[in-house]
Amino acid sequence: MINKFSVFSDGLKFSILAIGLIACSRDAELQSPNLSPYSIDIPAGFPSPDIPADNAMTQNRVSLGKRLFFEKALSIDSSISCASCHFQIHGFSDPKRFSLGVGDSIGVRNAMALSNVAYQEDFFWDGGVPSLELQVLAPIENPLEMNFSVPQVVERLKKDPSYIYDFKKAYNREPDAYALVRAIAAFERTFISGNSPFDQYTYQGKTSALSASALRGKDIFFGEKAECFHCHTGFNFTDNRFQNNGLYSEYQDIGRARVTIKSSDIGRFKTPSLRNIEVTAPYMHDGSIASLEAVVQHYMSGGKGHPNQSPLIKPFTLTLQEQQDLIAFLKSLTDESFLNRQSLQP
Ligand code: HEC
Ligand code: HEC
Repeated sequence: MINKFSVFSDGLKFSILAIGLIACSRDAELQSPNLSPYSIDIPAGFPSPDIPADNAMTQNRVSLGKRLFFEKALSIDSSISCASCHFQIHGFSDPKRFSLGVGDSIGVRNAMALSNVAYQEDFFWDGGVPSLELQVLAPIENPLEMNFSVPQVVERLKKDPSYIYDFKKAYNREPDAYALVRAIAAFERTFISGNSPFDQYTYQGKTSALSASALRGKDIFFGEKAECFHCHTGFNFTDNRFQNNGLYSEYQDIGRARVTIKSSDIGRFKTPSLRNIEVTAPYMHDGSIASLEAVVQHYMSGGKGHPNQSPLIKPFTLTLQEQQDLIAFLKSLTDESFLNRQSLQP
């Protein structure tokens, strides 16, 4: 069965909402006096993320966004918040294979990790959503997740004077869809993770940060036998493209083809960042691989041979020690300071 997110199959409703939300491209609200800027701490080796012109980062916006990220009133029966499926200690992913929405309804894809989401260009495993702001609409309206609607969320928030106050401080307007999606996106842009042992070794000159095993694993990761780095590339370990890594010979979830309707895109999914990969199991778009050991086995096997499988996925052999080394390298991408950062907690 192909995944069915009604908010996007109901294309008309989505585009009307989307037009209303992106129409204003200049940040007139910034004229308001009480807006101290929020400066994102950019780790060494990282570029500055693009911040949309109409959603400049301010302290008040980030704190409103945080409040909303943990707000269960965003779901129809006030049982689920964004954080119910995106756990900080798991890199803001969900250890469940498929997350539970309201009434324990079960989703169809594995909840994505949100580290460094400020740098992403397309959202969701199939890239079906073009901005972090617009992404907020999807879980609220998805019947398998929050099963609510943005206008109803706004009505609910307007009944709470403390929200009226916080929205005014942040965007100089009453609670509305415009400010709701922008505040949550502003908070998510602070999910910057760049202080793992790998970063300390590579960008902070701390040569002792990586063990001998992780260093050997690094050479495997960046070598032409395993080919990992061709797709998991750059500071965020993703090419920001859609690839078929040979997970299946036939895909139930057609991935990128859902968006492009091209058969050459069947089974292509967004190359996920590997940051904090140690704590974001289970793996792949459908959470079908439980451990990093099994992920390495998958790549060594050369994939299941789908017609769209990338030519970079082909059989290779690693000794047991080399497999352990590669996994030690993957684990060196765990950023404890991010997973425990207080500013990301309610
Ligand atoms: C019931 C579980 C659930 C809830 C609630 C939920 N999410 Fe998600 N989230 C997911 C799943 C599953 C995906 C992957 C969906 C897909 O690819 O189709 C996802 C993907 C995302 C992504 C895309 C990341 C990327 O790199 O493309 C972002 C951003 C996100 N969620 C933020 C949020 C925010 C903000 C909220 C609250 C408004 C929220 N989520 C609520 C399960 C959930
Ligand atoms: C052809 C591009 C490509 C190559 C080469 C590649 N990957 Fe991937 N990788 C992907 C894609 C695409 C996914 C997601 C596939 C899916 O969900 O169906 C993925 C998923 C993963 C995941 C799971 C991530 C998550 O959040 O669930 C891990 C771990 C991983 N790859 C590690 C590696 C390692 C280690 C190598 C080298 C042995 C490697 N990859 C080589 C494209 C690639």
